[in-house]
Amino acid sequence: MQIQINEHRLLDELKTLATFTDAEPSDVGTAVTRIVFSPDDLRARAWLKELATSEGLQVHEDAVGNTFMRWPGTQPDLPAVATGSHTDAIPHAGMYDGTVGVLGGLEAIRALKRGGLQPHRSIELVMFTAEEPTRFGIGCLGSRLLSGTLGSGRADGLTDKQEATLASVRTAAGFAGPLSSVRVPPNHYHAWLELHIEQGPLLEREGIPIGIVTNIAAPAGYRFTITGFGGHAGALLMPDRRDALCAAAELILSIERHALATGVIDTVATVGTCDVHPGAVNSVPSRVVLQLDIRDTDPDRREAVMQSIRRDCDDLRRRRNVSITEELVNADAPAQSSPHILQLLEETCAEQGIPYKKMVSRAYHDSSFMARIAPIAMIFIPCRDGVSHRPDEYAAPADIVRGAHLLASVLAKLASE
Ligand code: GLV
Ligand code: MN
Ligand code: MN
Repeated sequence: MQIQINEHRLLDELKTLATFTDAEPSDVGTAVTRIVFSPDDLRARAWLKELATSEGLQVHEDAVGNTFMRWPGTQPDLPAVATGSHTDAIPHAGMYDGTVGVLGGLEAIRALKRGGLQPHRSIELVMFTAEEPTRFGIGCLGSRLLSGTLGSGRADGLTDKQEATLASVRTAAGFAGPLSSVRVPPNHYHAWLELHIEQGPLLEREGIPIGIVTNIAAPAGYRFTITGFGGHAGALLMPDRRDALCAAAELILSIERHALATGVIDTVATVGTCDVHPGAVNSVPSRVVLQLDIRDTDPDRREAVMQSIRRDCDDLRRRRNVSITEELVNADAPAQSSPHILQLLEETCAEQGIPYKKMVSRAYHDSSFMARIAPIAMIFIPCRDGVSHRPDEYAAPADIVRGAHLLASVLAKLASE
């Protein structure tokens, strides 16, 4: 079968999707901010559903807004083969993270249709809700719920910065019904294969066009609240201070030190938000909330780093006379790709003469949670300088097309099983 990816259309659609953005324009690239259930997210969803419908795909959405676009196979009762990713974007991000997997998946399906494939199993494109943790503090919300990794009660009670619950926000966005209905039964999917930009530098550095992901690092999230004693920035004497931000600064540096101390590049820890109360230039900070994102391919090593951080918290409490509370947001397991799909990917690359590298994903993906309920794998394509989550994120058209082509080839094989 001839598989032809329409490069022009795919790039055009990526550019159109990038226009649904709430970001200030950037002079280094295309800035995209698309927070879940924001007006831009809802517009992007409507546009995507329109594209899928006009391609003849059967579209449906679940109670959290996960969107399923299905090409029915000749045996529609068999578990489907699925692909996809996310279209939400963190503040001031780029235009390729997630979107390449969704629009590349759509183009792969179109190419298979045009090539005359009559799939045995249905092929389903999935756009997951809130892969990014920006609004509700937890990543992969849609795929967590679909895989039964997150309870519906806890999920509906998650709140955003305005204290609006997921229950109220999703209902206002038009997604009603119990979240418990989002979970799919075991064996719902035969396989899941996600196309994504690497978000790291290795493929580009080594001049290899395709990454085949063998495993995905285990992410965890914690929220630390540091409470000291506030007051007037001029009048509160230095020896009397219990400055929460100074304690937070020490904690952040301790996190960095312990993550580096493992000596392994697979351990990474980031404090990406820091809310300072009351947040006035002439007021001593009385309370700080930090969010820690810590990941490792080895969850035991991740936990050992957390234990060292906790020991430093004890020391900080004593020395600085502050309170520090730790709240677990999520502590996830690593994910392994299916040996069978890895083999299909390797075979297909060999057939098509595509050099590839087997590699770890240090970023998490909806695939991390799909791995709980289905055999999975991921295809990575290079991105310039390994940059992601920034407006200058860039993937070359030839790499996007090659990734979509490989995706289509392997989807066709999986759908004929
Ligand atoms: C996904 O965006 C991640 O943070 O890995
Ligand atoms: Mn991302
Ligand atoms: Mn992503």
